[in-house]
Amino acid sequence: MRILIVGDLHSNYQALEAVVKDAAGSYDQVVCLGDVVGYGGDPNRVTEWVRANSQVTIRGNHDRACTGDTVIEWFTGPAQFAAEWTNAALTPENRLFLEQLPAGPLAANGFYLMHGSPRDEDEYILGRAEAAYLYPYLPGDICFFGHTHIQGGFGLRRGVAWALAAPKHGENETVHQLEPDTMYLLNPGSVGQPRDMDPRAAYGLYDSEAKVFVLRRTPYDIKRAQKRILEASLPLFLAERLAHGR
Ligand SMILES: [Fe+2]
Repeated sequence: MRILIVGDLHSNYQALEAVVKDAAGSYDQVVCLGDVVGYGGDPNRVTEWVRANSQVTIRGNHDRACTGDTVIEWFTGPAQFAAEWTNAALTPENRLFLEQLPAGPLAANGFYLMHGSPRDEDEYILGRAEAAYLYPYLPGDICFFGHTHIQGGFGLRRGVAWALAAPKHGENETVHQLEPDTMYLLNPGSVGQPRDMDPRAAYGLYDSEAKVFVLRRTPYDIKRAQKRILEASLPLFLAERLAHGR
């Protein structure tokens, strides 16, 4: 089975469209790591795509904040503003879908999905030390996570963690053959709001038979996504950051 892994789409339909086009023919199934909405200007179009195409979806903190959860109190001003706007803009069907998403970690086809970390859906896994510390909490060998908006991930063996290389500027992908007797925390990156200084949309492809994980980047129409944010009267900062990937 070849699986397209998307996360942190953040209402950016232009980025999602580019990912789907770039990945066409390379996957049989889709899974989603949460943060379908929040920040961007197209919450309904992105939610409708996830509803129609993702076989397994878990919730992110923004999906909760945009459907009335008190987690919104912890958000920055622009994120709060966008969450309130999103809540009002969502159709009742889309809001209900997001409201009912399960929390991770969730088992799916021999791997696990989580938004933040295996012990807390709101926790950020940013470095090797955090990954090594979380080793006892991992529910299985292959865990996909998001939340940081930083593409990459970690391999873990006998208490030692190492980082997986993401595509550099000028590269479209990095290919990782997963090893036996090793645990993995794998982050496909953010489709709709990358924060790793690369503005291209990020996603992952996993081949469960060959045990190969590919990290990919694709350019998209950033100007159009920015226009959608401004048309919704969302904070300018949310549009500007897309151009910088941070
Ligand atoms: Fe996110």
